[in-house]
Amino acid sequence: MAKKIKTAFFCQKCGIQSPKWLGKCPSCSEWNTFVEEHTAKKETGKDGYISSTVNHPKLISEIDYSNEKRIITNDKELNRVLGGGIVPGSLILLGGDPGIGKSTLLLQFSLSSKSKKILYVSGEESEKQIKMRAERINKDSNHCFILTETSTNNIFKEIKKLQPDILVIDSIQTIHTASLESTPGSVSQIRECTSELIRYAKETGTAVFLIGHINKDGAIAGPKVLEHMVDTVLQFEGDRNYIYRILRTVKNRFGSASELGVYEMSQDGLREVSNPSEILISERDTPTSGVGIAATIEGARPLLVEIQSLVSTAVYGNPQRSATGFDTKRMNMLLAVLEKRCGFKLGAKDVFLNITGGIKINDTAIDLAVVCSILSSDQDISLDTLVCFAGEIGLSGEIRAVNRIENRIKEAEKLGYKKIIISKYNKLSGAKFNIEIQKFGKIEEVFRILF
Ligand code: TYD
Ligand code: MG
Repeated sequence: MAKKIKTAFFCQKCGIQSPKWLGKCPSCSEWNTFVEEHTAKKETGKDGYISSTVNHPKLISEIDYSNEKRIITNDKELNRVLGGGIVPGSLILLGGDPGIGKSTLLLQFSLSSKSKKILYVSGEESEKQIKMRAERINKDSNHCFILTETSTNNIFKEIKKLQPDILVIDSIQTIHTASLESTPGSVSQIRECTSELIRYAKETGTAVFLIGHINKDGAIAGPKVLEHMVDTVLQFEGDRNYIYRILRTVKNRFGSASELGVYEMSQDGLREVSNPSEILISERDTPTSGVGIAATIEGARPLLVEIQSLVSTAVYGNPQRSATGFDTKRMNMLLAVLEKRCGFKLGAKDVFLNITGGIKINDTAIDLAVVCSILSSDQDISLDTLVCFAGEIGLSGEIRAVNRIENRIKEAEKLGYKKIIISKYNKLSGAKFNIEIQKFGKIEEVFRILF
């Protein structure tokens, strides 16, 4: 009798397993995501990474962590998002859209190493392609080794010989372990390969970077399955039409999960941007209407961003509202507040909003700058270029206090702004600032002095 092949169905979105096919995933509620995969493990004995030590229970006071030294890389932004360098033995997952620059970021980091031995394993590109990329980045290194391989078996064989300090896998979706029959990129393969890598990382104290793809239609398992398994999750994002890229911490077992690094994609690799506010604000000789500057905080970092609006009479029946980098629903809410509380007739007008530099802002403290820029465009009166704003707007038109106001004020002061408008409910500790601080409780009061 033929041996029955063991299979199970896996949700490609969240990774849940089911013995039967299901139309709707009971865990993540997505439709049509179940795919049949082989689950049988081959009895080959020596595949993957074999654990060689056995741990015994210890008192917490007996555990020694004093020799845990972080590896400080040459990339300051990477150090920052990792919470002050790489922790040996940790697994770091780097996710992001295709073509955003994940391979470039990690190859550049690998090539910049001066003392640590790094193995860069690529399952996606040939040696020649990697060399071409390295030529563009223009770094030569005696510490970075390249391996083009997709089988974890062979990867671990090479690792044994080379004994690297840091391992980079590009990408987790392309490697496979021989102990599973399913195809590379399937949920069970990704899970198994990652757990082999985790075992290897924890035992040898090697830091491992994994690149993970995000696919819109979820054809290959996205890194969501992995997020629980790894120590740190980084997200590389940005608009491909712009040159700026943001490296964000999504999860970090060894540091703050609200850190942010900014890079600029240039012809010869990624360049660190140490002062993002300066580049996010366009230089202008003459003031232009519709431009407002907001003092925001991204992650742990104060940032000044420029908000541009265009308000014009709607040509077609339905006025258009569109926002880039800002939540459109929130913009509609702010427009309703302007209409109802301040009597501006914006209902029949097209409103377009854009945050320059292609970055996305989730901070509600930019509300005040958003409404001021919209009204500035509507009234065609430009705002003073040396004024910036930080305040959240409530439904009754009140300006609400925002968190970490002093960091915002300091950043505005550092960049040479003359005035910052904030909520009167924000308490200041009494520190002296070299910038005029104006406090208001209602948006009408702000408009009275601006327009
Ligand atoms: P890549 O790292 O291949 O993206 P991912 O690994 O996330 O899929 O990034 C490729 C893009 O970056 C590609 O559009 C070309 C661009 N690029 C530069 O602009 N400058 C450079 O120096 C390099 C190496 C790439
Ligand atoms: Mg790549």
